[in-house]
Amino acid sequence: MKNRSQYYTRTAQILHWLMAIIFIAAWIIGFYSGNFLSYDVDGSFKGTVITLHKNIATVIIFLVVVRIFWRYTHPAPELPNTMSPTMKRLAHFGHLALYFMLLALPITGCLFSWSAGHPAPVLYLFNLPTLISENPEITAIVKPLHIYISWAAGILLAGHILAALKHHFIDKDIVLVSMTKQPK
Ligand code: HEM
Ligand code: HEM
Repeated sequence: MKNRSQYYTRTAQILHWLMAIIFIAAWIIGFYSGNFLSYDVDGSFKGTVITLHKNIATVIIFLVVVRIFWRYTHPAPELPNTMSPTMKRLAHFGHLALYFMLLALPITGCLFSWSAGHPAPVLYLFNLPTLISENPEITAIVKPLHIYISWAAGILLAGHILAALKHHFIDKDIVLVSMTKQPK
């Protein structure tokens, strides 16, 4: 009989994987638009791709609120004792940094769009209320912020996924399974 506290709750697991799919999709679409499309050459196609990026990414804002509340009320399982105290600290810091990305990217993305005079749409259903009016001076700050934070998120995420795979296939511990299964 395994100890229940070794596993994330079902709700935490669903939130993690749902947000992982949305976040990775938004990241790939944003990166594609930002680095492979230009208004001069691709015109309205680039507009369509950015609109898709926004409509997917804004969902994170709603889910992250639920997720942080859930995490606060339901602590994460302990990391295995085969990990050194330094590695455990690094893992906790990495998770904190991922939560930061989940907040900072949608926030800077929305500020970027609003300050450039565009809406922040959600799933092609409605627009988020516009909290700031058009202002090129703000765009000049939040645009590079959004881009640099997104690059940092890409690097962090690559490390996160590699760490999960190392735990599973090399260390053969419970870390990845704690996010996929429930105790029998
Ligand atoms: C999960 C949240 C998000 C992620 C992971 C994300 C990621 C990215 C990435 C990787 C880029 C490309 C950066 C580059 O040029 O190298 C980008 C660009 C951009 N993002 Fe986001 N973003 C998120 C949320 C948002 C939101 C909520 C909005 C607006 C409502 C937004 C608006 C934009 C815009 C307008 C661009 C510029 C695209 C272009 O220049 O072609 N992003 N984002
Ligand atoms: C294929 C992709 C992914 C895999 C294999 C994966 C795997 C995992 C695993 C195994 C854990 C549990 C770690 C532990 O107990 O210490 C975890 C936690 C976490 N993951 Fe992921 N993940 C992925 C994508 C993502 C994405 C895209 C994000 C968001 C940006 C993310 C954010 C987090 C956060 C914040 C935690 C800490 C949860 C907590 O303790 O509250 N993950 N992930």
